[in-house]
Amino acid sequence: MGWGWSSCCKRSDGAEPGRRKKKKDTTWRIFSLKELQSATNNFNYDNKLGEGGFGSVYWGQLWDGSQIAVKRLKSWSNKAEREFAVEVEILARVRHKSLLSLRGYCAEGQERLIVYDYMPNLSIHSQLHGQHAAECNLSWERRMKIAVDSAEGIAYLHHYATPHIIHRDVKASNVLLDSNFQARVADFGFAKLIPDGATHVTTKVKGTLGYLAPEYAMLGKASESCDVFSFGIMLLELASGKKPVEKLNPTTKKTITEWALPLVRDKKFKEIADPKLKDSFVEDELKRMVLVGIACSQDKPEQRPIMSEVVELLKGESTEKLSNLENDDLFKPDSSFQSSSGPDSSDCVTEERSPKADAIEEAVDSSETVPSAR
Ligand SMILES: Nc1ncnc2c1ncn2[C@@H]1O[C@H](COP(=O)(O)OP(=O)(O)OP(=O)(O)O)[C@@H](O)[C@H]1O
Ligand SMILES: [Mg+2]
Repeated sequence: MGWGWSSCCKRSDGAEPGRRKKKKDTTWRIFSLKELQSATNNFNYDNKLGEGGFGSVYWGQLWDGSQIAVKRLKSWSNKAEREFAVEVEILARVRHKSLLSLRGYCAEGQERLIVYDYMPNLSIHSQLHGQHAAECNLSWERRMKIAVDSAEGIAYLHHYATPHIIHRDVKASNVLLDSNFQARVADFGFAKLIPDGATHVTTKVKGTLGYLAPEYAMLGKASESCDVFSFGIMLLELASGKKPVEKLNPTTKKTITEWALPLVRDKKFKEIADPKLKDSFVEDELKRMVLVGIACSQDKPEQRPIMSEVVELLKGESTEKLSNLENDDLFKPDSSFQSSSGPDSSDCVTEERSPKADAIEEAVDSSETVPSAR
């Protein structure tokens, strides 16, 4: 499976792949299996940070004391070693302050491993709903910065990276937080590395449900605007502290957009704010985050903004664009806009359902699964 992009093995700066340059974080290298086994105490269960659709992630420490996270892939089988290396190397070359780049990889025998820097504050997901939730580390200021920074990271992938990269898996557990709570978007372009059958597992294990654009869920067709949709859901999550899909009872579910939109139309922005913020937020910024979140997660892809516009809107750089957004029909009290991104709406597809759409339905009940983490 190719990506359709050029897959040149030479780095753009002319150096051989794998050779370290002086500045540590501008390059990557190949790790030996032995080195990673010893860093993770032989992939010890106690070192496990969690499990996603592609395999398990383990915490580890290298001989130089640096902390790493090692993703041990479980589904690489149809990838030849060289093809895997070429594709991983393309991703490893993408560098931006808000992207978590690969530190390297290992492809030995049966093993395919990807190495990252360890992010001590884990992810937005762990901070909002997981093991760090009780600590309330995400002040409004941090949330706003995380929103802008992660938007810039994704905008970089869409508009500036060569070749352009569609993330395909934007969600709260894929926006990691470093020791300063600086956002680092992880796992970009990754879904493409894995054979189609295996991506099925992602939704099953982790419940990506709720983040998937309806057209992606139904037809499995990825595009930049699918990332925009997922990013919008994440913005609403960040503002409200709610999960993308709320289970009202065993048969009824409500998406975060369905919950937020009526409140926006009634201009009740304060009611959207995460109660954990205890009213300590900048109202204008909250309004921006919510309006942009809803604009991004509209059903019709052509009506969503593109990522560079999202960045601009979130930063509040253009008052004109912001007031245009605010006055959009979408937010008019009598607007016909109805979010149909919920799981129940996918029922309307009866023919030629993609494996992905089936997986989504299966994922509904497991979407609350929180990965075991340190
Ligand atoms: N570099 C890292 N530092 C700290 N935690 C990490 C790091 N990489 C991944 N994690 C955490 O490990 C867990 C498993 O990650 P993984 O990417 O396998 O699954 P996921 O992000 O939940 O889903 P997906 O497979 O769709 O990306 C997640 O909770 C993730 O936030
Ligand atoms: Mg991930």
